[in-house]
Amino acid sequence: MAFSLFSSKNRNSIASRCQDDSATKLRLRYAPYYHAMQSQQGTSVRLDGRDLIMLASNDYLGLSFHPKVIEASRAALLKWGTSPTGARVSNGSRAYHVELEEKLAAFLGKEACHIHAAGYLSCLSGVAAFAQKGDAILADKNIHSCLWDGIRLSTASVERFSHNSPDDLRTVVSSLPANTPKMMVVEGVYSMEGHIAHLPGLLAIANEYECFNVLDDAHGFGVLGRQGRGTADHFGLTDKVDIICGSMSKALASTGGFVAGDRSLIEYMRTHGKHTIFSASLSPSQAAAASAALDVLQSEPEHLERLWKNQKRYIAMLQSLGLDTWGSETPAVPVVIGDKMRAYSFWQSLMEKGVFTVISVAPAVPIGKDLIRTAISAGHTDEQLDRIGEAFAYAKKRS
Ligand SMILES: Cc1ncc(COP(=O)(O)O)c(C=O)c1O
Repeated sequence: MAFSLFSSKNRNSIASRCQDDSATKLRLRYAPYYHAMQSQQGTSVRLDGRDLIMLASNDYLGLSFHPKVIEASRAALLKWGTSPTGARVSNGSRAYHVELEEKLAAFLGKEACHIHAAGYLSCLSGVAAFAQKGDAILADKNIHSCLWDGIRLSTASVERFSHNSPDDLRTVVSSLPANTPKMMVVEGVYSMEGHIAHLPGLLAIANEYECFNVLDDAHGFGVLGRQGRGTADHFGLTDKVDIICGSMSKALASTGGFVAGDRSLIEYMRTHGKHTIFSASLSPSQAAAASAALDVLQSEPEHLERLWKNQKRYIAMLQSLGLDTWGSETPAVPVVIGDKMRAYSFWQSLMEKGVFTVISVAPAVPIGKDLIRTAISAGHTDEQLDRIGEAFAYAKKRS
């Protein structure tokens, strides 16, 4: 028994489970994922020798090729090297981390902020660091996988409520004991559906039942609110949100994530959040890219204006073709096809016409909602939007 960990029986059963996995076999056979592009210039990518329009990136403001963002990132690389090679708590803290955190906190209207090397880590920590065994978490049933992981790791109990439904939140929260510490977890903009959270209604109930609340604004940051301050700002409710977390890999054209809130909360997370304590800090080039993008989105409002102009034109085009956009109100736009094989063929038709999108099928989406995931960017030109329209018309006709 001493060597049970290394017994061939265990090793083989895990290895053969992996080798026989039907989902992996299906993925490899139809190859809809993990496409490695050979080159990129803004919203144009080259894949298998063909130029395609990227219509599935979360580079909402189109800043990943902005000269100021690239230059800042390059300068930081030369000044600080490639990596801080350590965790913030020990050897990995640098002045540029603190500067970016202060800038983000001020922009978001919060006292303090902590940045991590991935948005996934930030949002996971934004839940797991604060909730604990004995607490009850109320989660919108459509939240992102990183938030579910945070919930699981917190070891609190979890109750789901219907997507974006303050009424169902009330039903669920009112059934819990009054003295149980509670947390509500929602997103600002749901990336799969493009829905904006019904934040006023949700926060009113959270407040009434004394729920601590966590808002993952990965897709609202840079997109909604004044200058892109996000969903809480969009509703004028920043001071009612306890924790705003998010990603810097979307509108901020970098990688990494942030958790913002009262200073006491951020310091608590720095003491107790395992994912905050035991993971290496953000690289200098990525921190500098995010910091420069944050400056650009405040000094050059044309990117946000262009994003919304493109979003309106794009949604109108899809609707004129009779396509179902699941009520998306944002630049994250699903096109619901309904069945797996039709979605696959729709995705292939778009690819044939030079438009890169991502297919999403059950169980990632509810049964009957198999869809094509798309996201519009400020970087899409009028000419690209014309070509996108032609590609959708072609795919619709063939589906
Ligand atoms: C809602 C939401 N939260 C968090 C993340 C994680 O961010 P990142 O990909 O930057 O790690 C994502 C990424 O897709 C997301 O959609």
